[in-house]
Amino acid sequence: MSAAADPADAMRAYYARRAPEYERVYAKPERQADLRALEAWVAGAFAGRRVLEIACGTGWWTVHGARTAAHWLATDLNPQTLAIAAAKPLPPGKVEFATVDADAIEGLVGRGFDAAFAGCWWSHLPRQRLAGWLARLHALLPVRARVAFLDNRFVPGSSTPIARRDAAGDTWQLRRLDDGSVHELLKNFPTRDEALAAIGPRARAPQWIEFGHYWALAYTLD
Ligand SMILES: C[S@@+](CC[C@H](N)C(=O)[O-])C[C@H]1O[C@@H](n2cnc3c(N)ncnc32)[C@H](O)[C@@H]1O
Repeated sequence: MSAAADPADAMRAYYARRAPEYERVYAKPERQADLRALEAWVAGAFAGRRVLEIACGTGWWTVHGARTAAHWLATDLNPQTLAIAAAKPLPPGKVEFATVDADAIEGLVGRGFDAAFAGCWWSHLPRQRLAGWLARLHALLPVRARVAFLDNRFVPGSSTPIARRDAAGDTWQLRRLDDGSVHELLKNFPTRDEALAAIGPRARAPQWIEFGHYWALAYTLD
């Protein structure tokens, strides 16, 4: 098992190593209908907006969101995932990439975003840090900014089993990569009520959508 002492660094290292095999998760047959619906949802969520994407990974959602956005800054901490994203066909002149630690987003202040998006990132945030991290993200955004997240729902037989739940209520999975390495990863599966409770006082008119294998949440900031 991977032995990084800091869970955040262990997660970064896991995704760096997983980059070449990452998009296999988007080939699962049972998720295809949800994925097509979510791709359309992301494409419609940010029309005309200047979007900050956190933890873009290989750019699966970047391609769809950037179709209608005015500008899209796709960020991730790992150069291995960013390189795959940057090699995708993207609308010319609209999309930029940057290496950014999601735990240091204050460095992006003043960039003129009026929207933010993250796919499959919420689930990796410890419960005790989630509301604080969302407040820090909101602090980068003006009134009427649009914020959207999507992430996995736990589906037995499709999701990696939960190996343990810790004292804080966070759930952990054991993930195996092609090279045989095994990594313990924090992966939470919030209910609608838990998610709505976390988004805080600036969030207005939240829309929560449940698909079979995913959830999506969008709201506007006061
Ligand atoms: C579950 S993947 C999500 C990728 C993509 N958004 C998607 O939905 O397919 C999580 C991503 O978080 C990135 N990551 C890990 N730690 C990070 C950090 N501290 N800051 C920014 N990105 C990070 C990984 O490189 C990986 O691309």
